[in-house]
Amino acid sequence: MNVHIGPITPEHAGEVMTVQRAAYLGEARRYGAWDLPPLVETLQEIKNHLGDGTPALGAFQGARLIGSVRSRIDGDRMEVARLSVAPDVQGGGVGRRLLDGISTLAPEQVRVVWLFTGVESDGNLRFYESAGFVRTHEHDDAVGIRCVTLEQKVI
Ligand SMILES: CC(C)(COP(=O)(O)OP(=O)(O)OC[C@H]1O[C@@H](n2cnc3c(N)ncnc32)[C@H](O)[C@@H]1OP(=O)(O)O)[C@@H](O)C(=O)NCCC(=O)NCCS
Repeated sequence: MNVHIGPITPEHAGEVMTVQRAAYLGEARRYGAWDLPPLVETLQEIKNHLGDGTPALGAFQGARLIGSVRSRIDGDRMEVARLSVAPDVQGGGVGRRLLDGISTLAPEQVRVVWLFTGVESDGNLRFYESAGFVRTHEHDDAVGIRCVTLEQKVI
């Protein structure tokens, strides 16, 4: 698969929304939760996030957006958010490239890259742990799903 990883801007918001919704449907089904934040995020919210200057990356196969990831910065911590790969290309290494790519874009002051996923999402947990993230703590998210935070130190 010839995939190009590159920056995305507010103009990509519509495609990001489409890929994100398709990607997270499996998680919604797993938890019986159809109001997961990535599924109810509005086009305007995505546009705003893509325009706020924090690192965001897309994966392109030709002109088609097949994956994306965004981030939030808080002091020396960067959250990896909304990592999404189109269902028909999952398992082909695109997610790993987006995850590695966003980590390398962390601003200089960032010491810890972190993210969270559902505690029952075994595939996601294996994916993040194989990329070097370690589990730190658990919490319940806004819709009551038990989540686990994973972190990676920036060297
Ligand atoms: C999680 C997600 C981003 C991973 O992207 P991907 O392109 O499918 O993953 P990759 O192909 O890069 O996988 C990298 C490694 O993780 C493993 N992996 C990824 N997803 C897996 C799964 N569901 N079950 C088991 N292993 C998985 C791959 O086998 C691969 O292992 P390898 O390097 O030893 O071969 C993607 O599956 C996705 O969009 N899921 C739905 C949305 C979601 O849950 N996002 C994350 C929320 S925290």
